[in-house]
Amino acid sequence: MSKNPWKQNPWFESVAVAQQRAKKRLPSSVYGALVAGSERGQSMSDNEAAFMELGFAPHVAGHQAKREMATTVMGQEISLPVIMSPTGVQAVHPDGEVAVARAAAARGTVIGLSNFASRSVEEVVAANPATFFQMYWTGDRDVMIQRMERANAAGAQGLIATLDWSFSMGRDWGSPEIPEKVDFKTAMKFAPQVMRKPRWLKSFATNLPDLTAPNLAAPGEKKGPTFFGAYYEWMTTPPPSWEDVEWMREQWHQLSGKPFMLKGVCRVDDALRAVDAGVSAISVSNHGGNNLDGTPAPIRALPAVAGAVGDQIEVLLDGGIRRGSDVVKAVALGARAVMIGRAYLWGLAANGQAGVENVLDILRSGADSALLGMGVSSIHEVTPEHLVMAPGFARELGPVAQRS
Ligand SMILES: Cc1cc2nc3c(=O)[nH]c(=O)nc-3n(C[C@H](O)[C@H](O)[C@H](O)COP(=O)(O)O)c2cc1C
Repeated sequence: MSKNPWKQNPWFESVAVAQQRAKKRLPSSVYGALVAGSERGQSMSDNEAAFMELGFAPHVAGHQAKREMATTVMGQEISLPVIMSPTGVQAVHPDGEVAVARAAAARGTVIGLSNFASRSVEEVVAANPATFFQMYWTGDRDVMIQRMERANAAGAQGLIATLDWSFSMGRDWGSPEIPEKVDFKTAMKFAPQVMRKPRWLKSFATNLPDLTAPNLAAPGEKKGPTFFGAYYEWMTTPPPSWEDVEWMREQWHQLSGKPFMLKGVCRVDDALRAVDAGVSAISVSNHGGNNLDGTPAPIRALPAVAGAVGDQIEVLLDGGIRRGSDVVKAVALGARAVMIGRAYLWGLAANGQAGVENVLDILRSGADSALLGMGVSSIHEVTPEHLVMAPGFARELGPVAQRS
C-alpha cells in the first residue's frame, strides 16, 4: 500500500489548528502557561470575540491584481504589518526565541524579545538583527541601565517597555505549576504529564529547559536568575510613575539613540501622556488578557487612541490576532501594525521555526485575501469604511475632558 503523503504533514492551515496541535504536543502545564489569562478570562475572551463583531464590506468586482502590505515599525522595514510580541517562551521548544527570531527574519519581520526569555539577546540578534528588546519595570535604576546597555550593545534596534502588569492572577481554570528548576526531583514529579508527551520530551533530548532568564544576569555572570527569582525582583520593585517612563525613554535614547515603545496603553489620556514622555510608539494592549481582567479588547480601544495620537507617534495593537483578516481590521481602525503573541507560540509548539513561519504565512495570505476583497492595492488604503462595525463596538477609555 502506498504511503499517505498527508499523514504526518506538519503544515497547518489556521492558527486554531496550530493551537490544537500545541495542546496535543505539550505537557499540560506548559500548554496552560501559554493559555495564560487572568481572573475569569473576560479580557482574554473579548480580545478574540471583538474581532468577530467586526465584519467586512467587500466589493464584487474592481479588485486589484497586486496588493502591497510592507511597512515600517520604529524604523525597521517589515514585509507585512505583523511583528512578534515579546513572550517568555520557556520550555515550549528547545530553540525557543531563536526559532522565533529565525522565522521572523525568514518572513521579513521583527521579533520583540522578552526580558524573561529563555535565550540571550545576543543569540537572538544574531538570528534576526531586527530585534526589539522588551523590559518590565524591575530592579533598581542601575540594573535597568545595565540591561539597556547590554541590549543595545547586542544590537537590539529598539526598546519596548511593558508596564501594564498588576500581579492579578487567580484564574478560574487554575494556574499551571511552574517548577523552580528542572532537576531529577522535578522531573519525577512532572513525569506523569511529561511521559504522555514523548515527542515534546524527545525534542529537548538531553538539553532540558533550565528555566532561567539569561537577559537578567548580573554583569559578569553567565546564568540569569530563575523565573521565580526574576518574578520576585519584579514584584518588589516600586511601580513606575510617568516620570519614570520619561526617565527610561531618556536613558535608552541617550545610550542608543534608538526608538522606544510603551506597550500596554489602552486609555486615551495615557496615550497623550506617552506622547508627552517622548515615546516613538505605543501598543494598544491589555497584555493578551493577562493583566487586569475586565479591560476591554484593545481593538475596541484602538479607534479613540489612534484618533488622539496616531498623527504624532506610531500606534500598534496586540491582543486576539488569530487570522490575516484581524490584521486588516486593526490597520483599518488605525494601527500601523499588530503584534502577535499566542498565535506564534502555538506555531512554535506545533512545529518549531517552520511552525512560526507557517503562522506568518497564514496571516499574510489571510490579509491578502481581505485586501483583494476590499478592492485595494495596499494595506495603507484600508479605512473604517471597509468594515461593518455595530454601534457601541468601540470603547473610549479615560476621561475625555483631559484631551483638551
Ligand atoms: C505566555 C505569554 C507570555 C507573555 N510574556 C510577555 C512578556 O514577557 N513581556 C511582554 O511584554 N508581554 C508578554 N506577553 C504579552 C504579549 O506580548 C502580548 O501582549 C499578548 O500575547 C497579545 O495577545 P495574543 O496572545 O492574543 O496575541 C505574554 C503573553 C503570553 C500569552
